[in-house]
Amino acid sequence: MSSSKLLWASSLSIGIDRDGSYYPAVDGIDFYIGKGEILGLVGESGCGKSMTALAITGLLPDGVAIKKGSVLFEGENLIGMPEKEMARLRGRAISMVFQEPMSSLNPLMKIGKQVSEAVRLHDPKPKREAERLAEAVLGKVGLQNPKVLMQCYPHQLSGGMQQRVMIAMAIISNPKLMIADEPTTALDVTMQAQILDLLKSINQEYGMAMLFISHDLGVVSRFCDRMAVMYAGKIVEEGTVSNIFKHPVHEYTRGLLESIPRADSRGKTLASVKGRVPNIFEKRMPCAFAPRCQKVQDRCLKCDPPNIALSQNHTARCILAENESEINYASI
Ligand SMILES: Nc1ncnc2c1ncn2[C@@H]1O[C@H](COP(=O)(O)OP(=O)(O)O)[C@@H](O)[C@H]1O
Ligand SMILES: [Mg+2]
Repeated sequence: MSSSKLLWASSLSIGIDRDGSYYPAVDGIDFYIGKGEILGLVGESGCGKSMTALAITGLLPDGVAIKKGSVLFEGENLIGMPEKEMARLRGRAISMVFQEPMSSLNPLMKIGKQVSEAVRLHDPKPKREAERLAEAVLGKVGLQNPKVLMQCYPHQLSGGMQQRVMIAMAIISNPKLMIADEPTTALDVTMQAQILDLLKSINQEYGMAMLFISHDLGVVSRFCDRMAVMYAGKIVEEGTVSNIFKHPVHEYTRGLLESIPRADSRGKTLASVKGRVPNIFEKRMPCAFAPRCQKVQDRCLKCDPPNIALSQNHTARCILAENESEINYASI
């Protein structure tokens, strides 16, 4: 099993030291991504998803630091890796696509130059050759007339086209892992579906593994192999998408599932989880979800919830999970 793991995070904690106190944004999470697999990291805004992605790539903002833990990528620990080595891995072996393509594109540089420079950064080829490769990859991600497009500036492109350019730059060196942080959140529904199709075809064609971050469980259910549900810096449920959708155990996961818009719910108010995610400076209950949980018990306020293995491919961090045994997914 371990040989099929591409990335393996253990006890990863990320937070902020301020005025002598420590505030956790990510609090001891464990997860892995298998080779060629798509892992969905889901949860509402503020749960620590982006911090997790930035920690993996060594791009945490100033003031935010890794407190503890390891992230093995092909057996090598990325945490504490010298920046020079990390920079070499970024783009070549691990690439990233973010929500706002414009925040990563240089507005003053033509697309062709940006993409071919991305090539040359990791593979010092002659300029002409890099341009040819750039043109080919822009075509590969479904952009029409790549030759013309190379002469455009980013603002001349639609949001969907900009995101395709970002994806082209992310796959150009054929990395083993792509980290996509809400890559379709800023796009309209049609464009969203097209970009997801493109990412899926890249995953299948190149066997490129993905960490796919989203607050949208509907998207995750269609797109990912496994998923980890994050709440207030902790992974509260983890498993195959199929197992979790058949039998969600954590009340937070159940709430998120109920909030997925369905075709038949048009015009109706959607159920959603009442309350909000605590910010990192607020004091938390042993189970941080307790204040929002419909099934909260005294014990939830007193002791840390155990992480219960429900099956080989399903865990949940909740005392109520203790009552769930022998789930027969096949019969659901
Ligand atoms: N630069 C920062 N300084 C202080 N707190 C931050 C900073 N960036 C994010 N946070 C806090 O860290 C927590 C996790 O944020 P983030 O990983 O961005 O969440 P998500 O991606 O799940 O929406 C949030 O409570 C957020 O407010
Ligand atoms: Mg985020």
